[in-house]
Amino acid sequence: MQTIFNHKSIRKYKKQEVSDDILNKILSAATRASNTGNMQMYSIVVTKNEDLRKQLCEAHFNQKMVLDAPLHLTFCADINRFNKWCKLNNAEPSYDNLLWLYNASIDAVLASQNACLEAEYYKLGICYLGTALYSANKIIDILNLPKGVLPVVSVVVGYPDEEPELTDRLPLSGVVHSEKYEDYSDQDIKNIFAEKENLPFTKQLIEENKTENLAQIFTEKRYKKDDNIHFSDQLLKVIKQQGLI
Ligand SMILES: Cc1cc2nc3c(=O)[nH]c(=O)nc-3n(C[C@H](O)[C@H](O)[C@H](O)COP(=O)(O)O)c2cc1C
Repeated sequence: MQTIFNHKSIRKYKKQEVSDDILNKILSAATRASNTGNMQMYSIVVTKNEDLRKQLCEAHFNQKMVLDAPLHLTFCADINRFNKWCKLNNAEPSYDNLLWLYNASIDAVLASQNACLEAEYYKLGICYLGTALYSANKIIDILNLPKGVLPVVSVVVGYPDEEPELTDRLPLSGVVHSEKYEDYSDQDIKNIFAEKENLPFTKQLIEENKTENLAQIFTEKRYKKDDNIHFSDQLLKVIKQQGLI
């Protein structure tokens, strides 16, 4: 429980390697996660090689932590392995559709979060990289991912070289609904986001970004319409090219 409540994404890492013993515990923890039908429709690619990490760093929009952290884990939705098993057993698979893209992606993400918690239990730092989806085409080439395999999230792992503060979260009342979903009034939304909007860090961000407010930082700076559409189109192509739908 303490591990869960102390979680902070770490973006600066020491050079120190992670032992194989700890790596195996992290990977074993990943495989103990719940998964659809116990079919384990995911694969984890462990990358330590520096040259490959350099290539991955570029694919991940040059986020420097990819170079600094000694371990790079890519969690992939994977229908390839299960399809092969079915075909060897005179069983006709039908997992190349949206439902199984979701199922396999959920499996990959649950495994990744178990891995992260186990890593953090060993005082390692982790940071997710959503850029795995943005650059799925490049990561597929770098990691030799065959048809039926799609990177979903990457995680860097290593010993922390920084001690960031805990980040804020919306209040529980803002994200939990009792019994049924109760849609938000304008006033509810204002209350839920008030604490986040009034953080000193938020004020600093607004100044730096020269926007009117925090919401505009998301819509105009971080996750912009043009980018969202571009990367979404690109991802759909990759998903089709990989034969997942
Ligand atoms: C799917 C996913 C993708 C993420 N991608 C990135 C990323 O590309 N770069 C980064 O610095 N942090 C990334 N993060 C980390 C989030 O920014 C971080 O979890 C969030 O700001 C909350 O901070 P905390 O993890 O320290 O509590 C990602 C997290 C998730 C779950």
